[in-house]
Amino acid sequence: MLDFKGKNILIVGASSGIGYELAKTLIASGANVISASRNAPPDLAVKHLTFDLLTDSGSELASIPQLDGVAYCVGSINLKPFGRLSQDDFLKDYQLNVLGAVKVIQQTINALKKSDTSSVVLFSTVAVAVGMNYHASIAAAKGAVEGLAKSLAAEFAVNKVRFNVIAPSLTDTPLAKNLLSSPEKKDTSAKRHPLGRVGIPSDIASAAAFLLSDQASWVSGQVIGIDGGMSTLKPL
Ligand SMILES: NC(=O)c1ccc[n+]([C@@H]2O[C@H](COP(=O)([O-])OP(=O)(O)OC[C@H]3O[C@@H](n4cnc5c(N)ncnc54)[C@H](OP(=O)(O)O)[C@@H]3O)[C@@H](O)[C@H]2O)c1
Repeated sequence: MLDFKGKNILIVGASSGIGYELAKTLIASGANVISASRNAPPDLAVKHLTFDLLTDSGSELASIPQLDGVAYCVGSINLKPFGRLSQDDFLKDYQLNVLGAVKVIQQTINALKKSDTSSVVLFSTVAVAVGMNYHASIAAAKGAVEGLAKSLAAEFAVNKVRFNVIAPSLTDTPLAKNLLSSPEKKDTSAKRHPLGRVGIPSDIASAAAFLLSDQASWVSGQVIGIDGGMSTLKPL
């Protein structure tokens, strides 16, 4: 069991999916969780900040005095053939996945530096490590997330602020509902994964909780695939 007693963790995107599961896990482990998103997470003991990262400056995040961790759980799935992806599609994915994370980190880095050891967790996708049809826009944006995290991991190592990335494969959350909207789609998706199923939010949240914890205090600059074997295995 991870111990987060006395730790202050900000989750951007705790109202749904992986972020919601992560908030539940951290609260059960004793953390003080601050959530930031447009909607408050239902039925969770968090301090909620209403925040739209596309329109708000993020100054409300800068008022948090001290933080031991930040998880940026915002993302998009906008899959189209390359010929139907507009420049605007690419810009939107970049804004939500990369510039949103930049905004959050810029507003919280001073609070993170006040901890003896702090941790930032960002989210990529398996479609960066493995080329997948129709993923050009999201893979480009998430590839940038991975580069951002590694660069910041180097820059802030001196401050003992760790940066890591989780790269999930298809996980059953509201974000992925169109991809898992029928028993046939669920079955086909499960079979594409070497471990025979798609992810559930706790598969990803437990890895995020580990990276946020002191047990991962020597882990930084990593991209960790939590993907049912999708990025590395090809069973015969
Ligand atoms: N699910 C998958 O299959 C999958 C696969 C690969 C990677 N990922 C990545 O995993 C991460 C978590 O995904 P998920 O599936 O848990 O997604 P999700 O269920 O859609 O949750 C996304 C969260 O982001 C928040 N959010 C969205 N737009 C926002 C905005 N403009 N301002 C503030 N908050 C905003 C949402 O809250 P509000 O709506 O309340 O604002 C929500 O809490 C994402 O980075 C995603 O790209 C997911």
